[in-house]
Amino acid sequence: MSALPQDFRFGVATAAYQIEGATGADGRGESIWDVFCRVPGAVAGGDTGDVACDHYHRWREDLDLMEDLGVETYRFSIAWPRVMPTGRGPVNARGIDFYRRLAEGMLDRGIEPIATLYHWDLPQRLQEAGGWASRATAERFAEYAAVCAEALGDVVGTWITQNEPWCAAFLGHQTGTKAPGIRDWPTALAASHHLLLSHGLATSAIRAAAAGPADVGIALNLAPIRPATGSEEDAAAARRQDGYLNRWFLDPVLRGRYPEDMVELYERHFGPLDVIAAGDLAQIAVPIDFLGVNYYNPMRVRATADGAPLHLELAPPAGPTTAMGWEVDAGGLYETLMRLARGYGPLPIYITENGASYDDPEPDGSGVVEDPERTAYLAGHVDAMRRAIADGADVRRYCVWSFLDNFEWEEGYAKRFGIVHVDYETQRRVPKRSGLWYRDHIAETRRGDDPRPPRRDGWPASASQT
Ligand code: FCB
Repeated sequence: MSALPQDFRFGVATAAYQIEGATGADGRGESIWDVFCRVPGAVAGGDTGDVACDHYHRWREDLDLMEDLGVETYRFSIAWPRVMPTGRGPVNARGIDFYRRLAEGMLDRGIEPIATLYHWDLPQRLQEAGGWASRATAERFAEYAAVCAEALGDVVGTWITQNEPWCAAFLGHQTGTKAPGIRDWPTALAASHHLLLSHGLATSAIRAAAAGPADVGIALNLAPIRPATGSEEDAAAARRQDGYLNRWFLDPVLRGRYPEDMVELYERHFGPLDVIAAGDLAQIAVPIDFLGVNYYNPMRVRATADGAPLHLELAPPAGPTTAMGWEVDAGGLYETLMRLARGYGPLPIYITENGASYDDPEPDGSGVVEDPERTAYLAGHVDAMRRAIADGADVRRYCVWSFLDNFEWEEGYAKRFGIVHVDYETQRRVPKRSGLWYRDHIAETRRGDDPRPPRRDGWPASASQT
């Protein structure tokens, strides 16, 4: 097997609203997902995150299971409405305490905590004040980030500001398939800018407030875009989709500017983008310590005559798909990593999410759930990552989405992404074959030429690290 960077870590990822449950516990405020779940028809099966995996009460058992699998890093998210129930001061100490116990629990087990500050659970009160369409929300986010960094900076050394701002902006405000369920292009564009601005403001705020060393990054959902045919029209459509999904976020964060073709396109349709104030781009481009990449699948598009402003539609996948209908293509991960290395580097990359949903069988008492397709998906993608590393991409983390089956947003509990099966009736966890494959892959890697990285500076002396 090819050599990994010295501080490379294998991990798993989750998000607060998708696993915690306990939405009414210990002073937590309401989030936009609590509200969205109650809109008839918004979420499959009328499911909600009220109970989810009950991780809020079962976190010790869950961390033990991670330790059993040999997981080296855990990317979790902090629920803003637990820490600041209305989105602004005062701070709810019981919320902060939960995340302190959780992070300490990781350190005790030799697992590195990576905290995401925003995985889509905006306090509802801030939505009522304008949400991400309002610039003030970016300012509130920086205050919340500073509170978390100050309170937890001695136990958390790695921070992700925003998770997938494309999804939060465009699925939340343009297609309306995610909370807060708005369908309006100009609102979505304003939200995208304020989410990016909030990332920049929070990056500075974390560094100023953290008690210990703080590495800060952002997690973007990136995908290679493939034209459905060799026509010029489809090639142009692919470029627009790339601008919409990838460059609209990569370019401001890493180059300090929005892509000109997209600015021109959006302004032609919606008028001046006057939410972008002087100085914003410099703040958005404040240097980061790593770029988080969430990769699932490539996309295929073809040009259409209507459908402003992008004039395109998604074309069918060209190969096997997951239960989400997403094309399986590990080469797309390699391509994404090499694009970043060649076009946006030098830059440490953390793969902050990668995984697949399949219709798994129910546990049969054998102690393991057989999920051959997910196992193959993960093996193929880890291999693609290793090839990219060998070819010069500076990848330092790989986190499987997800540790547990969980609340998959508008799909509810029907779509399972876990490497550990969850029985939602009993809350019993049963490892899947993919989880055992991952355990063995990590162990094999560490027995070979790539020893487990040493403990990090700044981790508390009490934490044991093997
Ligand atoms: C990503 C989200 C994550 C999960 C996976 C399947 O877009 O960040 O919460 O839903 O997709």
